[in-house]
Amino acid sequence: MLTQKKLLLAISLVILTTANFSIANDIVSSAAVSSNTTKEKAPEGSLKLVMQGLLKNTQELTAAMLNEDFALIVTKADNIAEHPAPSMSTRIKIIKAMGSDMAKFKENDENVHKAALDIMTNAQQKNINGVGENFKKMIGGCLSCHGQFKGSVSALFK
Ligand code: HEC
Repeated sequence: MLTQKKLLLAISLVILTTANFSIANDIVSSAAVSSNTTKEKAPEGSLKLVMQGLLKNTQELTAAMLNEDFALIVTKADNIAEHPAPSMSTRIKIIKAMGSDMAKFKENDENVHKAALDIMTNAQQKNINGVGENFKKMIGGCLSCHGQFKGSVSALFK
């Protein structure tokens, strides 16, 4: 009787530990993914921190798109469209260094903003192909701004 109880206990312990192991493995692998794609955490108020937020939302948007989770697509695209601004002092430093190029910089930000809004509209209509087209435009906007400004702005904050 006692041994049977012990046996049951042993079995349930094994089941519990195995279950915990698979949960732990999931956590470990998702941590590995984010540490591979996000560089070290940027300081509060920096543009870099805003960008790291954009990266995270873009990754999650990609997953939502591929899973055709339209509600989640709307949420993630909204986070991108309405991303937080860097601190006032960061903005002043960028504006000063940018000079007349500031209009181009803002135009890039506006292109990403508009494409993210279009993603939301198409997601609300459950139009996955439309979402895909808007996503291409959005990611093109990220890369276009990086091509023009990432190096010089990054050097400002070194
Ligand atoms: C208006 C210009 C502009 C747009 C649009 C833009 N970025 Fe950036 N991004 C920058 C600049 C400038 C930096 C460099 C910041 C620094 O190093 O301080 C940067 C850096 C980054 C980085 C590197 C962060 C790090 O840890 O070094 C990532 C990731 C990133 N952006 C993601 C995105 C994503 C995703 C989008 C589009 C959804 C996007 N960016 C759109 C200007 C832009």
